[in-house]
Amino acid sequence: MKTLTTQVAILGAGPAGLMLAHLLHLAGIESIVVELRSRQYAEQRIRAGVLEQTTVDLMNDAGVGARMTREGLRHHGIELGFRGERHRIDLSDLTGGKCVTVYGQHEVVKDLIECRLADGQPILFESTEAALKGVDTDHPSLQFIYRGEPHEVKCDYIAGCDGFHGICRPAIPASSITLYDREYPFGWLGILAEAPPSREELIYQNSPRGFALYSMRSPTVTRLYLQCEPQEDLSQWSDERIWDELNWRLTGADGWTPTPGKIIQKGITGMRSFVAHPMQYGRLFLLGDAAHIVPPTGAKGMNLAIADALVLSQALTGFYIRNKTEALAAYTAGCLSRVWKVQRFSWWMTSMLHNFADDNPFDRQRQIAELAYVTTSRAAATTLAENYVGLPLMT
Ligand code: PHB
Repeated sequence: MKTLTTQVAILGAGPAGLMLAHLLHLAGIESIVVELRSRQYAEQRIRAGVLEQTTVDLMNDAGVGARMTREGLRHHGIELGFRGERHRIDLSDLTGGKCVTVYGQHEVVKDLIECRLADGQPILFESTEAALKGVDTDHPSLQFIYRGEPHEVKCDYIAGCDGFHGICRPAIPASSITLYDREYPFGWLGILAEAPPSREELIYQNSPRGFALYSMRSPTVTRLYLQCEPQEDLSQWSDERIWDELNWRLTGADGWTPTPGKIIQKGITGMRSFVAHPMQYGRLFLLGDAAHIVPPTGAKGMNLAIADALVLSQALTGFYIRNKTEALAAYTAGCLSRVWKVQRFSWWMTSMLHNFADDNPFDRQRQIAELAYVTTSRAAATTLAENYVGLPLMT
């Protein structure tokens, strides 16, 4: 067994783990990042793509925002479509000039990996059979196999950034954790298409045949989604059927339709809302999807993961630099008060925009009234906008 020693062992090289490692490095705190997958997998996995203003500011402040500033697409509004018409929510006007930036999660991951390696700091990719030891003692460690050899990282703290299906959350005894969970009776069928965006901003579309989302990744690639069954069989969806359905749902009274193109990726995403409380047990801290999941309708998942990294980096800095443990003890409260507000927003967007099989005509009319209210009342539009661009951190 090869033994390594560090201050913080980080399991998972997604946005939460990599941002935490970087913020700790800036504060002079040492960490080792351990990741199950390869670098190539981490850098190519297509996930979310909308950064809140708060996330953009943090990337810039942390010195990792240069490519995002060059290549990210700044959006000052979104459109809500229903009853055949689209209505613009002017995010910037409603939030004193804030906006969101369309920049893929895998691009954020690429930038953070590059920065960490340039700093000469370790990421142990393709580490298998990870196991946590002694998280409720003062001497926790992380064990795994790296390049065929058993390794142990001895550390002061472990950051569990290994996602919803990872090993960190289950390492907390059931009697010490409460799980809040809601599954939605639908999923999203998502595609990436080689088609230049033919519309400037994202469209969140409520239609009688279910939700559709028009999004993009770059000046040449569009990203689109369709509400589907949670267990939808992708093989039933030819490219032609996907474009027909997108056209049906997205075409409005003005006749606009998304520009079609070659579909270069297809997948189904499940939809759930999930919160683990607390987000800490002994010397183990949970971040990002390991601790909470939001349905993608509010575009919040990656932003929440990065916010957790900020909260934990500040708490660890308090401990290592100022010898104070209060912020570590307040980690759960510090994250969850904001996480619950973001849960509320993501749930609200989801319920306003999707078809629910058991909705009756009353529910349908109420949903349309909600959309009509949000798109005509400045007060209602402001609540959408301030959540969409990102609530202040640490609230
Ligand atoms: C995306 O582009 O992947 C995307 C955009 C907005 C969302 C969810 C996903 O709400």
